[in-house]
Amino acid sequence: MARTIGSIIGGRPAEGGVAGTISSPNPSRLSDVVAEVTLADAATFAAACAAAKQAQPLWADVPAPVRGRVIAAMGRIVEANKESLARLVTRELGKPYGESLGEVQEIIDTCDFFLGEGRRMYGQTVPSEMPDKQLFTFRVPVGSVAVVTAGNFPVAVPSWYLVPALVTGNTVVWKPAEYAAASAMALFELLQAAGLPDGVLNIVFADGEATFGGLQQALEEGTLDKIGFTGSTVVGSRIGELAGRHLQAPCLELGGKNPMVVTPSADIELAVEGALFSGFGTAGQRCTSLGTVIVQESIHDEFLARFGAAVSGAAVGDPAQDVVYGPMLDQKFASRFEEYLGWVQPHHKILGSSGVGRISAGNPRAGFVGDPGAGLFYHPTIVDGLLAGDALFQQETFGPIVGVASYGDLDQAVAMANAPGYGLSSSIYSRDPREVFAFRRGISAGMVSVNNSTSGAEAHLPFGGNGKSGNGSRQSGMWVLDQFTRWQAMNWDYSGRLQKAQMDVAEIVADLGFRLEA
Ligand code: UN1
Repeated sequence: MARTIGSIIGGRPAEGGVAGTISSPNPSRLSDVVAEVTLADAATFAAACAAAKQAQPLWADVPAPVRGRVIAAMGRIVEANKESLARLVTRELGKPYGESLGEVQEIIDTCDFFLGEGRRMYGQTVPSEMPDKQLFTFRVPVGSVAVVTAGNFPVAVPSWYLVPALVTGNTVVWKPAEYAAASAMALFELLQAAGLPDGVLNIVFADGEATFGGLQQALEEGTLDKIGFTGSTVVGSRIGELAGRHLQAPCLELGGKNPMVVTPSADIELAVEGALFSGFGTAGQRCTSLGTVIVQESIHDEFLARFGAAVSGAAVGDPAQDVVYGPMLDQKFASRFEEYLGWVQPHHKILGSSGVGRISAGNPRAGFVGDPGAGLFYHPTIVDGLLAGDALFQQETFGPIVGVASYGDLDQAVAMANAPGYGLSSSIYSRDPREVFAFRRGISAGMVSVNNSTSGAEAHLPFGGNGKSGNGSRQSGMWVLDQFTRWQAMNWDYSGRLQKAQMDVAEIVADLGFRLEA
């Protein structure tokens, strides 16, 4: 049965203008509507920011160790609801259940990491240049934060923002993807159950334009201090521009064209396994999904044959069963994926399935699990023979498609890996440490995997990208603290007189001309 979902601001259902309603269907069974969603307008979004801004000083006054206990409770509550939240993620987004369980685990891991931050939000005591004066640093929350997230990781990636923002004393307006509304609402309710005061965490459902208008209004009204955004490069750059006009640096986690370099010293079977998981897991709709495999020419044919066989044999279909991947997240992604398939050119060779495009009775996939006509299922597609100028080589292609290109020497492989201008994740399969470190040094990506796929970041390492993948901001682990806090420097002079820095500093005279006797 479909649930009706709307925004919650200051602990109550939002009262502002309604910009429309949409339904969030189950992408593996489109007749199953998971939620009917009421969308807010821009003014309602801005009202949520005002409510968050108002609630912030009181939340910041809650001692950090107490806020840490709230995060601890969130982790335990999510853990106790792990299976039901994972089932909902599978139903609403079509992720295989095992992956959904992993996604919920990532929230628990994030809470486990940050619960201690409440007792560890260290500042420093620093010696002064002068006597009877002491210097200190404090981490200060930025204030009210708007978090705008995608639906491919409908609960884990939001937790990467919400948990550290809350533990450091910020208040939050969360705008999840509309097509992930039910999963988002479930996470919101689980986090609320930890005892957050009203207005500390608000959730707003809105389309892109209303969200942008709301962000703009809140920035103008001074009720929004930070934006966190996970989504496309195009929208990320619009948000960066808007935030920049208000002298703010947003936390941007954008797309990727994540390369995997396979060298002649590699364990080819391991590389094939990694390429299958990161190219086609979540139907290729992770921002860490594999974009192009860049294989040394001497092993190209062997790799391609094995990769083609692995993908052809992979189970695709009903995400409640044991499959590598299920449907596209939503119709919008399915339509866009069909456009990407239009980028295939005559010089390309296609492998990986018994057809290309949407799987149906007339365009069947050998070994499909379930009823292909019920949902948004697409054939996995390997495109061999990519050249540097091809759109498929240059652009992110969200969906079950992986390119293959070949290289001569490693410098060429690194140049090809960097050429599209993204820089989120990357991977190299090699048994030669010189190759591995040369790749690490040359690759522009924020994340480098060695003998592991481009996906599968852990919750306590910095996550983020460069170039078209982001503005250098990092999430997760201790690194995200710099997104949600600002350093405040304090100096305290208790000498009772004005001591001027740089001028009233004691000098010890050195004999700089001193030399050892020859
Ligand atoms: C994303 O696609 O936005 O490393 C995040 C991974 C996951 C997170 C992906 N742990 O693939």
